[in-house]
Amino acid sequence: MPVNILYAATPGKWETYQPTLKKALQATGLNFDLRNEFDPEAVDYIVYASNSPLQDFTPYKNLKAVLNLWAGVEGIVGNKSLTVPLARMVDTGMTSGMVEWVTGHTLRHHLGMDRHILAKPGEWYPVAPPLAKNRRVTVLGLGALGSACATTLASLGFNVAGWSRSAKSMPGVTCHHGPEGLKEALAHGEITILLMPNTPETENTLNAETIAMLPRGAIILNPGRGPLIDDAALLSALDTGQVGHATLDVFRVEPLPADHAYWTHPKVTVTPHIASETRPDTASEVIAENIRRGESGEPFLHLVDRSRGY
Ligand SMILES: NC(=O)c1ccc[n+]([C@@H]2O[C@H](COP(=O)([O-])OP(=O)(O)OC[C@H]3O[C@@H](n4cnc5c(N)ncnc54)[C@H](OP(=O)(O)O)[C@@H]3O)[C@@H](O)[C@H]2O)c1
Repeated sequence: MPVNILYAATPGKWETYQPTLKKALQATGLNFDLRNEFDPEAVDYIVYASNSPLQDFTPYKNLKAVLNLWAGVEGIVGNKSLTVPLARMVDTGMTSGMVEWVTGHTLRHHLGMDRHILAKPGEWYPVAPPLAKNRRVTVLGLGALGSACATTLASLGFNVAGWSRSAKSMPGVTCHHGPEGLKEALAHGEITILLMPNTPETENTLNAETIAMLPRGAIILNPGRGPLIDDAALLSALDTGQVGHATLDVFRVEPLPADHAYWTHPKVTVTPHIASETRPDTASEVIAENIRRGESGEPFLHLVDRSRGY
């Protein structure tokens, strides 16, 4: 009997994923049947994304696991009809993309590139930027993406601190954790980068009180999730100068509504949720490896802890 795999992720991407999933599954040596339609009772694994029309898992009575193509799982983690293991995506392609976006935007602000890119003809400002070792950067969230960004920035010479829920140790990064570690992490963050998941605990991590703990004029980069920031508190801190600039990739409502203050604020850069994305070739290898593991009774990779919400 083949292993039946239902593709129920973003409908428009089936054509893209079908060949990469097929290739990765063939490399495992499994006997499989991959389709975007199945009798629910025949399905063993579902390749998923929370913008799928499939929201009720009850008819999938023989399901072994749901394998998410996205890193963020806030759109599925609370689904009561899902009772089997849920794995999220950790993809080397997505990680590289995030490291490149974060490094680029960190260097933009560190080097003060805007001053010269936006300079008027004749403006001559002969002040060299500081070295990375004299720039304090904080990464909030040290998971798959945050740790890769933190260690890359440290390898460029930045003075990097990080913050996570549990204690961590990584080369070149001063790691803080738990509610008590947040204050020190924030005080360090001349450039502060948010790479946490969207959970009830992380909502409004940056609020009026915590923004006040940042160095004056701090730069905020948010490629994590919109709800990590209290928008009203950020807009007010931008106006007082407590925050120097915010580069935001993610928002509570996406696309960001046309009349939102972020669009026209002179100290805000909006990017349209493009910091990184799942790359079909490398992500398909992760999906295939998880199905191979499921079939040989080995533990799944990147399992979501439903009680934590990520
Ligand atoms: N903009 C984009 O294009 C894009 C693309 C991909 C992902 N994302 C976002 O990036 C997020 C992070 O992805 P990831 O793969 O790095 O996730 P991850 O591996 O699950 O890492 C999450 C990190 O956040 C920390 N954290 C969670 N709750 C916390 C809390 N209450 N207090 C302090 N730290 C907390 C975790 O701490 P522990 O290490 O102690 O568990 C972990 O270090 C995703 O959830 C998604 O929202 C955005």
